[in-house]
Amino acid sequence: MPKLNENYLNLKESYLFSEIAHRVNDYTAAHPDQKVIRLGIGDVTLPIGSEIIAQLHEGVDALSKAETFKGYGPEQGYDFLCEAIVDYYARNGVTIAANEVFVSDGAKSDTGNITDLFDRDNVILIPDPVYPVYVDTNIMNGRNIVYIDANAENGFLPMPDANVHADIIYICSPNNPTGAAYNREQLTEWVNYALANDAIILFDAAYECFVTDETLPRSIFAIENAKKCAIEFCSLSKTAGFTGTRCGYTIVPKDLKFTASTGTEMSLNAMWNRRQTTKFNGVSYIVQKGAAAAFSVSGMAQCKENLKYYQENAKIIAEGLARKGIRYFGGINSPYIWFECPNHMDSWDFFDYLLANAQVVGTPGAGFGKNGQNFFRLTSFGSRENTLEAMERINKLL
Ligand code: MLT
Repeated sequence: MPKLNENYLNLKESYLFSEIAHRVNDYTAAHPDQKVIRLGIGDVTLPIGSEIIAQLHEGVDALSKAETFKGYGPEQGYDFLCEAIVDYYARNGVTIAANEVFVSDGAKSDTGNITDLFDRDNVILIPDPVYPVYVDTNIMNGRNIVYIDANAENGFLPMPDANVHADIIYICSPNNPTGAAYNREQLTEWVNYALANDAIILFDAAYECFVTDETLPRSIFAIENAKKCAIEFCSLSKTAGFTGTRCGYTIVPKDLKFTASTGTEMSLNAMWNRRQTTKFNGVSYIVQKGAAAAFSVSGMAQCKENLKYYQENAKIIAEGLARKGIRYFGGINSPYIWFECPNHMDSWDFFDYLLANAQVVGTPGAGFGKNGQNFFRLTSFGSRENTLEAMERINKLL
């Protein structure tokens, strides 16, 4: 009999968004005539910009001719995409090298897969509430997690505690689920803490494209010395509408090195390269053609039009909650609006209440950790029509 990975016994029965989908499917099956508005999972609704679409088509056409046909591509991503990402960072004032970029099918996979590089015996520091992938993937590996509280008192932006040692620190900014974003001074404090602890920061920048406040860093590498202590994950899911198309990237600096117990110096860039070349065969040429177009100046301008639309939705949601006197966070440099459940309701009870009485789906804060209890998340990725209708229904109900 195989010995199973019994760490799976320590996981919740299902992944947060699978649980939500399950409850919504049950509801729609029982109420087929009701129009349910989904503002739960952060899934985009606008079509992909025409420049990207044109390049996706070009990618397809290339495969139809012997001269331009592509088989296996480089596991790390084609040079043209890695260079386009380097240029995008340069335009935002951050210098990275093409051989520090690893293209993948998304930040969800990479933030999960990165755990391959670390021993079980590490102190993992994770804010609570948090994107459940960081927690679940570490539980799958049998690691102990130390949680730091993110709450209304610290604006959902917890800071390092010099008395607590960590080896691996997860930071997501702008944050999923709370929408809070660290400023430069705060991220500098985290980088200094990581350097003092000989720790590594796993920085999820999947929502950087929503930062409108130009004083806020959009990359951990905008912070001095971060290349000595951080890996950054990013994604085209929200930036370019690629939730279904799938493409992301991870930046592993060449400077990121630690000494093994044998005294050998180990490069995280070399380790990730080894991991990816062994377990991953790269993203399709077609998708990478489209992704490169997203990072061009004109392609990004089209993406920004879509982002503006979602930002307007966020404003509609935030204003609707404010009118009801409901305290909320996020929604400015983030597509997520995080708010207190009315009358201090339990998050899952509020989820059921909203679904049953307004047919609006959100995400219960408790699904992101204990500090999410009594909070609720709405996403701005719906259509304008649905966002307005959802807020009208919520306004009537609450
Ligand atoms: C979310 O709703 O939290 C995200 O869409 C999930 C994800 O990006 O995997």
